[in-house]
Amino acid sequence: MSVATQTKSKLDIVPLTRHIGAELRGIDLRQRPADETIAAIYQAWLDHLVIVFPGQKLSQEDLVRVTGYFGEIGDLHRPPKYRPPGQDRLLPGIMMISNIRENGEPIGSLPDGEMMFHHDMIHAEVPSKATMLYCVETPDTGGNTLFASGYAAYDTLDPQIRNRLEGRKALHHYNYGSVQKGDDKGTEAFAECVHPVFRTHEDTKKKAVYVNRLMTVKILDMPQDESDSLLDLLYDHSEKKEFVYAHRWRVGDLLLWDNRCSSHARTDFPATQRRLMLRTTVKGATRPY
Ligand SMILES: [Fe+2]
Repeated sequence: MSVATQTKSKLDIVPLTRHIGAELRGIDLRQRPADETIAAIYQAWLDHLVIVFPGQKLSQEDLVRVTGYFGEIGDLHRPPKYRPPGQDRLLPGIMMISNIRENGEPIGSLPDGEMMFHHDMIHAEVPSKATMLYCVETPDTGGNTLFASGYAAYDTLDPQIRNRLEGRKALHHYNYGSVQKGDDKGTEAFAECVHPVFRTHEDTKKKAVYVNRLMTVKILDMPQDESDSLLDLLYDHSEKKEFVYAHRWRVGDLLLWDNRCSSHARTDFPATQRRLMLRTTVKGATRPY
């Protein structure tokens, strides 16, 4: 398949909040942008953590190609036995997120309702570097994705708390499909891993808070009650409104976030309305440090 190349693209970068999020206008991703434009998009992504390309009309092949601008496309991690039926209709590497039901069963993963803040694949040794979502169908209200800057949380953390936690590690655990900690919506299949509480981003060299309400279990080498209260404090701080961009989806939005320095959550939405997203990931290059 040949993809036409845009020789010259005008890239408009419009920040969406002070700490996180930018809309990139003037790009039609059906065509491969010029290399210098791809480099500028990559830099905008590092600068803003979350980038949105509105009004796209992309095929599955396009999604795979665009994902490749940011690294190697990731595999699906959930074991095949636990994948929803709609998954068979997609190219390898694309995951269906949907509440649409056929024969009473959701065709996609993570079908319903609110989802707690988390970093994708923090429960793996080498978590995904990035996640991309493409909006195919969206409810009239709700189903927003909230993105929190881990840099802003780290930079503004009480220095005493920061000093207590510097160099510490935390354990993360996730049953695939779970949307609230300890709910019964996850599969039996799970993964868990230990990573630093503060992660250094390998491209920007900046530090970010790297624990989350959905998946983090405890801080290692610390009494449980102390760990619990410090984690609660970190969650509440990280999710403060001033560090968060709330994305209201429009059909045709393509959005990419950086899992190394941001976490995300989903707001509730009406069960009677359809929501369909296609998701790809970019493989991480290194264990978090
Ligand atoms: Fe996620």
